[in-house]
Amino acid sequence: MLTLGNKIEKFTEDYLIKPEEIWQPTDFLPNPQGETFMEEVQEIRELSKDLSDDFWTVLVGDMITEEALPTYEAWLLQLDGIEQNPDNPWAKWIRQWTSEENRHGDVLNKYIYLSGRVNMREVEITTQHLIADGFDIGTSYDPYKNFVYTTFQELATYVSHNNVAKLARKGGMKALAKMSKIIAGDEMRHHNAYSTFVKNIFELDPSEMMIAFRDMMRHKIVMPALHLRESFADKGTMFEDFSTVAQRIGVYTGEDYINILKKLNTAWDIENIRGLTEEAEKARDYLLKLPERMERITSRLVVPDTDFKFKWMNPAI
Ligand SMILES: [Fe+2]
Ligand SMILES: [Fe+2]
Repeated sequence: MLTLGNKIEKFTEDYLIKPEEIWQPTDFLPNPQGETFMEEVQEIRELSKDLSDDFWTVLVGDMITEEALPTYEAWLLQLDGIEQNPDNPWAKWIRQWTSEENRHGDVLNKYIYLSGRVNMREVEITTQHLIADGFDIGTSYDPYKNFVYTTFQELATYVSHNNVAKLARKGGMKALAKMSKIIAGDEMRHHNAYSTFVKNIFELDPSEMMIAFRDMMRHKIVMPALHLRESFADKGTMFEDFSTVAQRIGVYTGEDYINILKKLNTAWDIENIRGLTEEAEKARDYLLKLPERMERITSRLVVPDTDFKFKWMNPAI
């Protein structure tokens, strides 16, 4: 971490963008100081009626996952080699990354609020629960494992926001499509950064990096929305139904999970890494065979078409 930390300035320059230069939520929302604010809001509300409850459910879940950012930042700041010291290069990276991510929940929340399609109070209760419940990413304090996680998750969120963009465009919601597309762009940039960190670690410490990657994939990458719940419900009781909805509208599927794994195997050139210990060789074998094994299981799964009654979609009283 110390060796890589020396490159932080270069990484920041290559992969992060300053507040004045990057997009801000207001660029994609009706301007509250503008004369046409009310008409623009009215237009959003009209267009929003046409998209399905499944679509809004997934958009809300994605937004809440973004809003739970304090959980992820707190987690990252406790990794080995990272400390809350203004000069620690990794802490600087994490703070800047967090500040970029913060815009995602911000823009989605405002848009969803204006749409008039969901019960905001219920949504807000879920967000508060999710942050209060915390989350075990499954990486302990190991930065190697952690960077596998972030590389994976950034790509998963890219896929998910990008698919939302496609559905929004199909449903005639151009502004929402544009917004989701630009969020997906941020996720891809972040993915590229974390993927580069791992690639660098593979050069410095190939066997340990390989084993960390295997460990993460063996336990499966847990979704940050794992503990989703509705008001008065137990921790995590909403997650399965939520991911069923995400699968059946094609926003994030089991197939996407496998494709991400394949991409990581290729990006890190797992097949051709040399000089590994015996255990790391075994880990490599496991990783190379895993996508096929998962495909056999995933192809047999049937996604239910249950008519869920999520409180997020209840009319406000
Ligand atoms: Fe994000
Ligand atoms: Fe992200």
